[in-house]
Order: sequence, then C-alpha cells, then structure tokens
Amino acid sequence: MAQQLALLLPEKHGKYTVGSRPIPTPGPGDVLIEVHAAGLNGIDNYIRLVGAFIDTYPAVTGHEGAGVVKAVGKDVRDIAEGDRVLFECWFSADRGTYQQYSLADARGVTKIPDSLSFDDAVTLPVSFATAAVGLYAPKSKRGGAGLTPFWEEGGQGKYTSEPIVILGGSSCVGQLTIQLAKLSGFNPIISTCSTHNIDYVKQAGATHVIDYKETSYADLPAAIAKITPQPCQLVYDAISTGETQKTGWNILASNGSICVLLPPHVGKYGEEAEDGKRTVYVFGNVNDPEHQDSGFGGVVAKTLEKLLAEGTVRPTRVEVVLGGLHGIQTGLERLMTGKVSGAKLIVHPQ
Ligand SMILES: NC(=O)c1ccc[n+]([C@@H]2O[C@H](COP(=O)([O-])OP(=O)(O)OC[C@H]3O[C@@H](n4cnc5c(N)ncnc54)[C@H](OP(=O)(O)O)[C@@H]3O)[C@@H](O)[C@H]2O)c1
Repeated sequence: MAQQLALLLPEKHGKYTVGSRPIPTPGPGDVLIEVHAAGLNGIDNYIRLVGAFIDTYPAVTGHEGAGVVKAVGKDVRDIAEGDRVLFECWFSADRGTYQQYSLADARGVTKIPDSLSFDDAVTLPVSFATAAVGLYAPKSKRGGAGLTPFWEEGGQGKYTSEPIVILGGSSCVGQLTIQLAKLSGFNPIISTCSTHNIDYVKQAGATHVIDYKETSYADLPAAIAKITPQPCQLVYDAISTGETQKTGWNILASNGSICVLLPPHVGKYGEEAEDGKRTVYVFGNVNDPEHQDSGFGGVVAKTLEKLLAEGTVRPTRVEVVLGGLHGIQTGLERLMTGKVSGAKLIVHPQ
C-alpha cells in the first residue's frame, strides 16, 4: 500500500513521533483528502496526557483539516475528486488530520471557494462547529442551548435586543461564536479579552469588549450591569476555566443557559439546576453520531459552505507553525501553556 507521513502517538500517554503509515482507502460514504493545512487544538494535548477518546494505537490525532479531495467512496454524491474542502476529524487513525491523507465522512465535509486559502479555511472547522453546536443544537445531554438557528426560517436576527455574554472573544471559538451571535441578532454582544485584542474582537461583531486583566472576573457582573439592565439568558464561556465558568454562572439569569467547553464546574451537566439555569457542555464536532443521525451535523457543514460562498463568515487570524508535522509538538506545548493570543496555530503536513 502507498505510504504517507503521519504524526503517530505510539501508545497511551506516549510521545508524538513522525513516522509512516498506509494511505487509507475511502469506504462507502467517505472521502480521502490530501491535507494541506491542519489546525492545532487543545484536545490533542488532552488525548495524549489523559489517554481519552482513543483505544487503538498507534493513533493519529489532529482535529481539523483543509485540502483537496483525492478519492470518493461509494454513495458519495455532493463531493467530487478535486474539490477544495475543510473538515473535522473523528477518533480513528485514518481520520486524524496530523498526516498527509485523511478520511472523512462526506456528510460533514464543507466545500470552500477558490478565493479562500487552505490556511484561512483550516481556522474554521472546529471553531464554527463548536459555536454552532453550543448555540443551536437542540437541548439534550450532548446538545446545545436550543436557539432557533439563523439559517432556519425566522432565525436570522431573532434575538435582537437580547444580550449575550461571550467570555474569551479573541480565542478561536470565541471569534466564531461572536460572528454567529451577530447573525442571530443579539445586541449587545459583550465579550472579554486582553487590551491588544480588543479591535480584533470588535471586528468579529462584539459591541462591548472588556479587558479581563483590568476588570477582574469578580467585577465583571457589575461592569455588564452598567452596559445593559436586561437579564442575560445566554452566556458562552469560550475559555471555561473554573473562574470563567463561575463568573458566567453569576451573570446568567434564571432559566438561562451557559455553554462551556471543558468539564463543567457549575450547574448540572445537561440538566436544569434548581433555578432553571442550564449547563451546556459543548462537544463541537459535526461527526458526533448524535449530530450525524439527527442531520444537524450535516446542516452545520453545509451552512458553513453557504456562508463562505457569500463571504459572511471570517476566518480567524492564523499563525503557521514551521516544520510541518515535526512542528506540531512545539505548537501544542504553546497552546497548553497559554502562549497563544488571538491566533489559530496551523501546520502544513505536506
Ligand atoms: N468542547 C469542545 O468541543 C471544544 C472545542 C474547541 C475548543 N475547546 C477548548 O476550548 C478552549 C478554547 O479553545 P480555542 O481553540 O478557542 O482557544 P485558543 O484560541 O487557543 O485560546 C487562546 C485565547 O484564550 C484567551 N484567554 C485565555 N484566558 C482567558 C481568560 N481568562 N479570559 C478571556 N480570554 C482568555 C486569550 O485571550 P487574550 O490573548 O486576548 O488574553 C487567547 O486569545 C480550549 O481549552 C480548548 O481545548 C473545546
């Protein structure tokens, strides 16, 4: 079988090493993609350190990619060889994006316009899905806040005059959540970041941006009360430390929802607390069987395709980590130690 270069995780708690493995063949419903850009995500550190999500080794991680379709499996209709696409992974070695060729379920693959570079495109798969699942997936244990999606009848601009608080607006997920909140009409859109990223966060659509290093999270509820007297029914915590989650919970009105991205420190996971507040623990992957079976994952992927064709969604800032697959470990260490500010780290596996 033809071989490719891949970043291999040889064993649970092991060390990432570049090696070679076969180029997989797409089965029914799958496509084979030549990966030109792969995005780095905190979950790859989590998988290595905790040993979660994966039980077969050597493993290949990497959660998002952009590239060119090289082959399509049986029953694939909307995607063809030669299409330029972006996509999310799933948890098997053939479907990780830290390698030169990856398989993907065609239902979750998004075609991209010729004008969009692979580097810009790869800033979007995980962040767009994580924003969309958190805000719009139906309420369920693994679902979202259940808002009417902006792509459905009556959804665009539906939440005009309702406030939303998005903690961490310069993060990759924060950037996309702000853009989607704007399409849903939320106003004001209040966010937090460091001073040097305030313009970046406003460009995404935030109406009010607070530097969390100048106004501590303990003082944030009072600062928000000065911006709007309305109760806040939705908080999206794109950072999700214990501190940000507790602050978000304090800001949240009764019967509201808080979306968190890391294990919940507040409320009851997937259920309402006594005062009706709900904790949504987002799993931002269109390939999650729950979202694929319901069709929601496919709708998210195709909605992104439409938004990119119209130019409605902006990629985030991007920083290319040098060294291709060899650069990933250094990039992941920077993510783990909080040394990335307002940019998506990506690599070029080719
Ligand atoms: N559950 C899921 O499905 C899912 C999906 C994606 C990501 N995640 C997780 O969500 C987190 C964010 O991911 P990401 O890729 O969006 O992160 P990222 O872009 O790498 O995060 C870096 C940003 O975080 C900001 N930040 C750090 N501490 C902050 C704080 N206390 N308040 C406000 N902003 C703060 C920094 O802002 P400044 O530089 O402006 O200070 C920086 O721009 C990670 O832990 C990731 O593993 C989970």
